[in-house]
Amino acid sequence: MANIVIVGTQWGDEGKGKIVDLLAEYADIVVRFQGGNNAGHTMVVNGEKFISHLVPSGILQKKLCVIGNGVVVDPQVLLEEIDYLESRGVSVGPDNLMVCEKAHVIMPYHKKIDVCMENKKGDCKIGTTGRGIGPCYDDKVSRRGIRFVELVDPDLLKEKLSVILEEKNFILEKYLSCEAISSENILNEFNSYAKRLAPFIKNVSVIINNAIRDGKQVLFEGAQGTHLDVDHGTYPYVTSSNTVSGNACCGSGVGPKVITGIIGIVKAYTTRVGEGPFPTELFDETGEYIQKKGAEFGATTGRKRRCGWLDTVLLTNAARLNSLTGLAITKLDVLGGLETLKICTGYEYKGKIITEVPAGIKALAACKPVYEEMPGWKEDISDIRSFKDLPDTTRNYLKMIEKLVDIPIDIISVGPGRNETIVLKNPF
Ligand code: GDP
Ligand code: IMO
Ligand code: MG
Repeated sequence: MANIVIVGTQWGDEGKGKIVDLLAEYADIVVRFQGGNNAGHTMVVNGEKFISHLVPSGILQKKLCVIGNGVVVDPQVLLEEIDYLESRGVSVGPDNLMVCEKAHVIMPYHKKIDVCMENKKGDCKIGTTGRGIGPCYDDKVSRRGIRFVELVDPDLLKEKLSVILEEKNFILEKYLSCEAISSENILNEFNSYAKRLAPFIKNVSVIINNAIRDGKQVLFEGAQGTHLDVDHGTYPYVTSSNTVSGNACCGSGVGPKVITGIIGIVKAYTTRVGEGPFPTELFDETGEYIQKKGAEFGATTGRKRRCGWLDTVLLTNAARLNSLTGLAITKLDVLGGLETLKICTGYEYKGKIITEVPAGIKALAACKPVYEEMPGWKEDISDIRSFKDLPDTTRNYLKMIEKLVDIPIDIISVGPGRNETIVLKNPF
């Protein structure tokens, strides 16, 4: 029996949604364990595109989808996503979607504070998605959050809100010069969400662990990427949760013993949305070529993604931090047509070559990438379905990644569609 974790190895948007949708065929349960609707995970099946922000990307494979305790959930967005899936012919109900009673709820003041704080920071902004993610995790850690178990208890919700709003409105009005939020409006709105969502709210740790005991297989779906991790990422230009594989356990209520494999999703080049250092970023026509050909626009905010060469300093960091057992390389097709490809193998910093990501943001911003150059390929590889049919130069590029990161490539993705994939080794 296998229980597999999927994580992003770069700064998010590596194609986790596609790979989770693909591998969900072999799983019984798919679990989101961190982040919230800052995530945008794309699945393309039979030419039809779906973007999911909260519902795990196993939903199209008709698997049990679970939102774990580690996720922060905006109930309005979740309900909209359920309605959207239903409208597209995907049935979603309490039998195939569950939300952990311990998951924290994103409230209207979280979203308002997120946006107003960013505005106040001006040039020092993080470039958040504005979805209230950071402020919600703030409240979770400082023990004044609202969880689903409290959301569905109207009296308790009212009591908690009156205390919380005193502080939030002080911050909104006095510090951020914004309008205060009224408790009455929130209660009306959130009591109606609670009514609709009540049948979905469960003790998911029990459900997942019982399923594992009974021989079922679980796929844990990470959001964001390793270098957006609040501890291990390019702090403070990070998200507010742990995005590394270890959090699959904390964020869903299982112990580490159950995990049997960890697949790191690697985009064949690098992208980043929002602010923060990015050593291999391209500001030339090659960057533009990749951005256009890869349609690199955020699935959540629609922002243009910054693009650059593949960075194996980041990837080896991710391999260690996540204990990766395999890699899935995505968007390999996008590199087709480039005469020469560059892979970053180290950074030059203060006259020395380093191969680890420095913790300090100034140091990382001062790092100059050291590149290995390789010939590219002209062919369109999106119709190729076996490794041996790939052009020699493409295979050499992949072999170089394997060698530099020292982790085997299990999956190669050559297009957005579920079937546009070469599976060398199925982790299940
Ligand atoms: P996620 O957040 O990691 O799930 O990634 P996103 O969905 O935000 O962004 C990945 C984008 O690349 C989506 O538009 C996918 O449909 C697309 N995609 C995934 N794999 C491939 C691939 O191999 N080739 C191409 N051309 N597009 C891909
Ligand atoms: P998926 O799961 C790419 C980035 C934001 C910003 C920073 C903090 O689709 O890969 P936040 O709203 O989380 O406080 O923003 O993190 N970010 C992402 N970038 N993909 C994501 O998710 C992201 N989720 C957050 O752009 O720089
Ligand atoms: Mg995304």
